[in-house]
Amino acid sequence: MEMSHKTTSASTSSIRIRYYKPADGEHVRELFKTSLSVGADSPLHHLFRHELKSSRAFISYVAVFLGIATALAPKARQPIQLLTAAAFVIIGSTSFISHLLYTYGAFMAFVNGSIGGPDMQDVPRIYGMVPTTDPAKSGTLVPCGKNAFWVAETCVIGASGDLQTEVVGCIGLDINSSPGDTSAELRRLAVSSSCRGQGIARTLVRELVAHTRATGIETVWLRTSSSNVGALAAYRKLGFQVERAYDPFKNLDTHVLTMEVENCTL
Ligand SMILES: CC(C)(COP(=O)(O)OP(=O)(O)OC[C@H]1O[C@@H](n2cnc3c(N)ncnc32)[C@H](O)[C@@H]1OP(=O)(O)O)[C@@H](O)C(=O)NCCC(=O)NCCS
Repeated sequence: MEMSHKTTSASTSSIRIRYYKPADGEHVRELFKTSLSVGADSPLHHLFRHELKSSRAFISYVAVFLGIATALAPKARQPIQLLTAAAFVIIGSTSFISHLLYTYGAFMAFVNGSIGGPDMQDVPRIYGMVPTTDPAKSGTLVPCGKNAFWVAETCVIGASGDLQTEVVGCIGLDINSSPGDTSAELRRLAVSSSCRGQGIARTLVRELVAHTRATGIETVWLRTSSSNVGALAAYRKLGFQVERAYDPFKNLDTHVLTMEVENCTL
């Protein structure tokens, strides 16, 4: 298979899944960064919501509440009581804000580390994509082994009849992080926030599964943050099962999900 030409309907354009090509680099990195950090359904927002309900946040709420209650208490006009109230409010709110800032910084460091990491900086090398030998498709890449990387792009016919495309989704398959050669990791699944809910992730995963069937991969697995409830819900709908869930007592901050290819009904 040299190129994928799957389409799925969208409101204003069609969606095409194809292999990554060198010109996609910047678009894919930007897409990955914004899909993780921008929008109400982004993992960053899910992480903030998760942190707002954490025990650490609860302690801050209690401290601020105690400070306000102390300040408003009848007969609380003694300087020592007002100082105590101010201390509670300052410590509670400072700890709350600094934790949110730390969370944001750590998340963006993870995102920037991901897009600056070897696989996103050099997709062809890590995902084994090589120039096609088909002269009709010169300049495009195809997988030379079990690894592969795909993008989803919107295709719109412009007023002058030209084809206008935009990369709005991506997904990679990598066997390097798995033992043996019959299991592979699903990596870098991302869909632009403006194109979600149209079945693009489903189409990307379907393409990936077709590739696993053709290359003898039996199990696909992935890691995702436990706070990324949107992605976890999507993966479950796509047929992945949670193999290892978040467990603070075992110091796990990610979920590991797997799918047996032979059971996949996508
Ligand atoms: C997760 C993500 C890739 C889903 O992309 P998408 O194109 O909107 O997904 P699809 O439209 O193909 O939906 C596939 C299924 O998942 C479900 N789904 C998708 N997002 C969901 C959400 N936030 N909550 C619940 N279900 C969701 C859909 O309803 C659909 O199931 P259905 O066909 O049975 O109705 C996208 O939200 C995204 O890019 N998120 C940010 C990046 C990210 O978290 N990536 C994963 C890193 S591990």
